[in-house]
Amino acid sequence: MEENNRLKLSRRDMIIGTTAAITAIAATKVTGVEAAKSNKIAVLEVSFVVNGKKQHLQLDTRTTLLDALREHLKLTGTKKGCDQGQCGACTVMVNGRRINSCLSLALQHEDDNIVTIEGLGSPDDLHRMQAAFIKHDAYQCGYCTPGQICSAVAVLEEINSGIPSHVSVNLNRSPSLNSDEIRERMSGNICRCGAYSNIVEAITAVAAKKI
Ligand code: FES
Ligand code: FES
Repeated sequence: MEENNRLKLSRRDMIIGTTAAITAIAATKVTGVEAAKSNKIAVLEVSFVVNGKKQHLQLDTRTTLLDALREHLKLTGTKKGCDQGQCGACTVMVNGRRINSCLSLALQHEDDNIVTIEGLGSPDDLHRMQAAFIKHDAYQCGYCTPGQICSAVAVLEEINSGIPSHVSVNLNRSPSLNSDEIRERMSGNICRCGAYSNIVEAITAVAAKKI
């Protein structure tokens, strides 16, 4: 009997909680719609360097770096896959370090130096990593490839700088340039086509200065 009362109570609590949550979500939506209608969306200016060129943008404060690059600067080489930090398709380099641009607000990057796939090389003057991906057939559909290449370039810089990974055997020594290190460090870049073994070959070739 006591057990039944507890169950009843928790069901009642659950209904009250769910109703409150739905009301809160509805209120947020209404607030958002009203703000949009009354043009009260907060807009701020941000300045950063992208592929060597200074850019000044007026952005809705909620704009991600990925959307600023793709929608505002028309640099569509950087891809939107999951838009939630799971696939690595949006990888770019900021001040020499790779990040998932979908997880970062553009306004966080005042005065930063950003490099996208377009800034690494051009069709007439490919970066060595771009050339290696072509030579080793390290892609199929190519959707993940810009992110893979930006990540790969940053991975070699990380290893050269002595930054350890989860599979580094000795933290007192510089990490080795073996395929375990490369696979671990590239694990945040998903390839639905499964071109992984060729991607590792391409990175290994660049690391060995064979390209
Ligand atoms: Fe950024 Fe997938 S789009 S991690
Ligand atoms: Fe198709 Fe990687 S080449 S998702």
